[in-house]
Amino acid sequence: MKNICVVGTGYVGLVTGTCFADLGNNVVCVDISQEKIDMLRAGKMPIYEPGLEEMVERNVRAGRLSFSTSYEEGLDGAEFVFIAVGTPSGVDGEADLRYVRMAAETIAHTMTAPLVIINKSTVPVGTGDWVADIVSRTQPQHIDFAVVSNPEFLREGSAIADFLSPDRVVLGSLNKDAAEKVAQLHLALRAPIVVTDLRTAEMIKYASNAFLATRISFINEIAAICEELGADVKEVAAGMGYDKRIGRYFLDAGLGYGGSCFPKDVLALEHMALVHGTHPSLLRAVMDINRDQRRKVVHRLRQELGRLQDKRIGLLGLAFKPNTDDMRDAPAVEIGNLLRSEGAQIRGYDPVAMQVAARYLPDIILAEDPYDLAQDCDAIVVCTEWNEFRHLDLRRVQASMRLPVIFDGRNIYDPAIMSDLGFRYHGVGRSHHINGFNDVLVTPAMPSGL
Ligand code: UDX
Repeated sequence: MKNICVVGTGYVGLVTGTCFADLGNNVVCVDISQEKIDMLRAGKMPIYEPGLEEMVERNVRAGRLSFSTSYEEGLDGAEFVFIAVGTPSGVDGEADLRYVRMAAETIAHTMTAPLVIINKSTVPVGTGDWVADIVSRTQPQHIDFAVVSNPEFLREGSAIADFLSPDRVVLGSLNKDAAEKVAQLHLALRAPIVVTDLRTAEMIKYASNAFLATRISFINEIAAICEELGADVKEVAAGMGYDKRIGRYFLDAGLGYGGSCFPKDVLALEHMALVHGTHPSLLRAVMDINRDQRRKVVHRLRQELGRLQDKRIGLLGLAFKPNTDDMRDAPAVEIGNLLRSEGAQIRGYDPVAMQVAARYLPDIILAEDPYDLAQDCDAIVVCTEWNEFRHLDLRRVQASMRLPVIFDGRNIYDPAIMSDLGFRYHGVGRSHHINGFNDVLVTPAMPSGL
């Protein structure tokens, strides 16, 4: 059992702190926002994450988890402090490190005993050294400390499972003892632990996210080619995925990646590359393709409906992906704004992101459910692949629309069935000509020699 302080009760900080408490450690989560701390003390979650509320409650009750606005309280007796504050995109896509700086300075002022400072936030390569420098320059008197980079790989919607069963834990430090201590904290997770230097650890995070974003843009580019050549990208991805060197993950064509990480991280990596004189042409292409995925929908709507002025368009799903209410860089936001700028009337429905949606798309008319959304619509755009949308009474949806046009931005419906139901159906990378053979047949492996 260790004493841990976590600075920042956003997504990453709250999940990290709560999971470490659940592993039996004493954790104090510190945030400068009194409002957030009050909420958390009252048992309310500032974010939507399945399973988090129960886990917070359990650990608060057990006396292992508490919340405070005071660094003194957080660092009292702590051996480890995690910095998990936001690093939004600043000008030119450069990560804005003001919150990291504030956290580092305050830690330096407040610490009274040796401390391992762990950077959890996604920060540009070199930030670990910068934090070490800030702390040693700010400390009123010298107290031993070490900086360790420990990037997070948590997906929204499955963050707790991702924390507790990670594919790997990455630790970077110039101080072997400190890295060893942080490795001990993670032993219970029984995951491979990669120990390296600070800069390499920081780069592993960017390279991982940029690679996943690249896979998504790759399959979206293949989807565009499939559309022209009469192939079906879903089946192409399935066929590719059996190759162990490729795998099936992150090959779903659609409206592109969104959320708080991929867009920001690819942009920040491109910025770092440019500043250091390299030519990140692949990263640029990844971002261009991603942006075009959203624009293409609006273009196709124009082709289907003519002028969009006063057309009623329903956005089915608003969050950037299912199981979250997060709308940061959600395709629905950009598509909604583009449609509004052409005078269309936007309606929207999402199982959990309705409140948040009003902030991102102030003109949106929110519907009670998918059927209410469909009422008199000229077209529906599926923006998020919530499971409940897969099981809709599509006949009812079709019957209540003014025009039965559907843009399935997440490829959740079967083109042949949609066509039989009378929809004018458009998927992403799915041929307009229905081949009538849409199942991937998997036969048992042939005995060798046949
Ligand atoms: C991601 C990383 O997975 C995580 O490791 C990192 O720490 C934070 O960023 P998250 O943003 O929660 O997590 O979302 P994720 O589930 O990875 O999806 C990212 C985006 O890619 C979503 O917009 C999703 O819709 C899109 N996506 C994903 C695709 O378009 N196609 C795919 O095949 C997979």
